[in-house]
Amino acid sequence: MQKVAVISGASRGIGKAIAQKYLAEGYQVFVSGRSVARLEAFSNTLSDEQKSRLFTFSGDMGIKADVYAFAEYVGKHTKEVNILVNNAGQFIPGTIEGETDGTLEQLLQTNVNSAYYLTRVLLPVLEVSTLPHIFNICSTASIMAFTNGGSYCISKFALLGFSKVLRAELMPKKIKVTSILPGPTLTDSWAGSDLPENRFMKAEDIADLVFTCSNLSQAACVEELLIRPIEGDI
Ligand SMILES: NC(=O)c1ccc[n+]([C@@H]2O[C@H](COP(=O)([O-])OP(=O)(O)OC[C@H]3O[C@@H](n4cnc5c(N)ncnc54)[C@H](OP(=O)(O)O)[C@@H]3O)[C@@H](O)[C@H]2O)c1
Repeated sequence: MQKVAVISGASRGIGKAIAQKYLAEGYQVFVSGRSVARLEAFSNTLSDEQKSRLFTFSGDMGIKADVYAFAEYVGKHTKEVNILVNNAGQFIPGTIEGETDGTLEQLLQTNVNSAYYLTRVLLPVLEVSTLPHIFNICSTASIMAFTNGGSYCISKFALLGFSKVLRAELMPKKIKVTSILPGPTLTDSWAGSDLPENRFMKAEDIADLVFTCSNLSQAACVEELLIRPIEGDI
């Protein structure tokens, strides 16, 4: 039977690279994103065969009703989910003192609540699926404060906390939970930066890492992975 991967926020950047990897490995892949145009643009880069295995859903993962609608869309097409990647996320630079009122709420909704609700609603399906594995795309900002990190850092610390709690809860059910903590990775998140491209990792590096973790024997669970550019953080 064809394996299934569900990835939130995957029309570009790291999520898209992860979707491309699982498509290349023969999976059926469900992705979400807010912009229909960006989802279509991604789909249009694929061969007809891969396109037939990509299912796109437009919705805001920071809104609980949209998360549930995404899960319902997935449920209409499959009874099994083997891989869930909680990737949808947003970066708004700022400081706790200086950022706009509402930034904390917005980043918690997009970066934390999205993962919490998507996981909760898909857990009954994951529990009856073969070798279920949940990935949470955290960040180096999940373990250290960085300049102009503000609420983004707070949200990523919270996501790592969510991931740890989830792993502890799901261990008895043999559902693997992996926290990925990437440093700077070249995506649209860095648009406008004049830093040289070779100071960044590639989104494909993160995708390869995720796939490798999901391809180990049933006995092994990679719990946390910290990955930075070879010259360190920016
Ligand atoms: N790039 C880095 O250096 C880096 C480092 C560490 C961790 N991360 C984390 O990796 C994840 C992906 O980041 P990225 O750099 O690949 O970002 P990106 O290039 O901006 O892509 C984000 C993706 O998520 C979608 N998305 C954003 N907000 C969404 C929402 N509310 N609902 C649904 N989809 C949403 C975007 O599509 P739409 O805009 O159309 O919705 C897009 O497909 C994030 O969680 C980020 O915090 C990134």
